[in-house]
Amino acid sequence: MQPAVIAPSILSADFARLGEEVQAVISAGADWIHYDVMDNHYVPNLTIGPLVLKSIRPWTKATIDVHLMVSPVDAMIESFAEAGADCITFHPEATLHVDRSLELIRSKGLKAGLVLNPATSPDVLDWVMDKLDMVLIMSINPGFAGQPFIASTLDKIRVVRSKLDRFEDRSGRSIRLEIDGGVKTDNIGAIAAAGVDTFVAGSAIYGAKDYQAVISEMRREIARAHGEILQA
Ligand code: DX5
Ligand code: ZN
Repeated sequence: MQPAVIAPSILSADFARLGEEVQAVISAGADWIHYDVMDNHYVPNLTIGPLVLKSIRPWTKATIDVHLMVSPVDAMIESFAEAGADCITFHPEATLHVDRSLELIRSKGLKAGLVLNPATSPDVLDWVMDKLDMVLIMSINPGFAGQPFIASTLDKIRVVRSKLDRFEDRSGRSIRLEIDGGVKTDNIGAIAAAGVDTFVAGSAIYGAKDYQAVISEMRREIARAHGEILQA
């Protein structure tokens, strides 16, 4: 398992002060910034595009993890690579050629990942594992922050974790397992214990008064759960 990453989703930040909000969570101990892109076509909501990424890019050196909830995806991959993304993930249902879109991200020198919706089978990963740097499991239906965590996701995490572990044994290459949706201090331990190493949290972090307190508590819960896995 790779070192844990906490990635606040800027969807719950104060958009009038986005640069400061990005800096605030990183100084409060977060590792990455999760950047949610919605097009009111693939998902029923509209958020931010490459222009906003370009303007927040100078505010942080932290990894910016772009989660594309758009269809089609290829033109947006080009634009977000240009705007300064470090990782780009997309939903397999949103592109006609999953392998080609993954190749496109990698050709820009960025980390690439697929996102599994609650009803999407992990089988879609099987023939593209060598092109993945991360797998993002949605524990809500994409489109909005602040929805409750879908409990069956824990079983799916375990299925994907063992797939990724088998791949790592074969290839020596590790793939991050990321979760997004309804992650809070009171369920992050169970999520970590199921095998997640990369944690997106929007409302739980940006909705709190003290970012540092929430992030530290999340980190303690993750460390406890991962410590238990190592001892098991
Ligand atoms: C929803 C987004 C999430 C969202 C998570 O489609 O992909 O990243 O911001 O927000 P919370 O953590 O509040 O569920
Ligand atoms: Zn997201």
